[in-house]
Amino acid sequence: MKILTIETSCDETSFAIGEIGKDKAGVVDQVILSQAAIHKKFGGVVPNLSAREHLKNFGPLLRQLLERNKLHLKEFDCVGFTRGPGLIPALLVGSSIAKTLAYFFHKPLIPVSHLEAHIYSNWIAKNQTIRQKIEFPALNLVVSGGHTQLVLMKDHLCYKVLGETLDDAAGEAFDKVARMLNLGYPGGPVVSKRAQKGDENKYNFPTPMIKSRDLNFSFSGLKTAVLYTVKNLDWTKISKAEKPTAINDICASFQKSLVDCLIIKTQQAIKNHNPKTVLLCGGVAANEVLRKKFRLVVKNEKKVHIAEKKYCGDNAAMLIPVLFFKIKKFGLKNFKDSWKNLEPKADWELSDKIKLESKCGKQM
Ligand code: KG4
Ligand code: ZN
Repeated sequence: MKILTIETSCDETSFAIGEIGKDKAGVVDQVILSQAAIHKKFGGVVPNLSAREHLKNFGPLLRQLLERNKLHLKEFDCVGFTRGPGLIPALLVGSSIAKTLAYFFHKPLIPVSHLEAHIYSNWIAKNQTIRQKIEFPALNLVVSGGHTQLVLMKDHLCYKVLGETLDDAAGEAFDKVARMLNLGYPGGPVVSKRAQKGDENKYNFPTPMIKSRDLNFSFSGLKTAVLYTVKNLDWTKISKAEKPTAINDICASFQKSLVDCLIIKTQQAIKNHNPKTVLLCGGVAANEVLRKKFRLVVKNEKKVHIAEKKYCGDNAAMLIPVLFFKIKKFGLKNFKDSWKNLEPKADWELSDKIKLESKCGKQM
């Protein structure tokens, strides 16, 4: 069966095609259009602007995907879309497209949480097929622009949030530090690039929350420490030639503190919950230093999975494994006419889903 997935939770418009068999599935193709260049001048994503761009671009983008694969909309057996969490104006565009297609072509519509989509990006193997053999319990570190969570899965589609950020998300901290240093948006790629050339021991920024016993995160203290360092440096005394080095050192020292915090908390969660597999996903998972250190958190390398870089940022392909396992678990019939009741939910958190389906058996 052929499926179409739609992602518009933030500033990427993306569609993907998947092929699902009874026990096998894979990603066929996807298109992504980033709006980063448009939001750059505002230093972050402007929700209404992002909705306008999704609306402007989705038609040509979807057409490009369909023509490339010689497919017509009526040929899909099912549609999946990001229902939330995310920016409500942006989610409204994606869900309107999804509901319209489902209604006019009489297709089942399957809602996907943006967080479970990030988690399931790890189920896409290098050859684009959906992995079948990731063992449970699986511990996920989800690090994006909106979320930083440790999530334990005892089985497919069953999530328990063990800990999360109490203030800024990891990606948000990267974005804010980039803004302090006038490095542009999004912050993660540029800060990590500058960090490569910097001295990570130059500034002794705090490693947040490492003394707390729980599995929560907090990055506002680290962000404030960076802010004071930037403000207190006498930039007039730093020569033009030395300025890039000062910026590189701040980026490297900040990145070290943040990554170390993520790693220490993950190790703590491993100790507490003894998972069989440990996984990393989300936009910040593209960070090379984090990827390297994460690989070392468990001695047995086979137990660690890190999402392919192309599936770390927002994309529609990562919804495909979610659809595969939802169809397998609940049956496609369960989603017939579901378009009627699927409004977007800006704050659709995984912890809400647990409350909703306490036995992990019900349709979401
Ligand atoms: O998952 P994502 O694409 O969107 C959300 O769901 O939020 O994550 C975007 C976040 C941004 O904050 C961006 O700065 C960060 O991921 N990011 C990175 C890197 N690439 C993207 N952070 C650190 N290092 C990177 N290489
Ligand atoms: Zn995301």
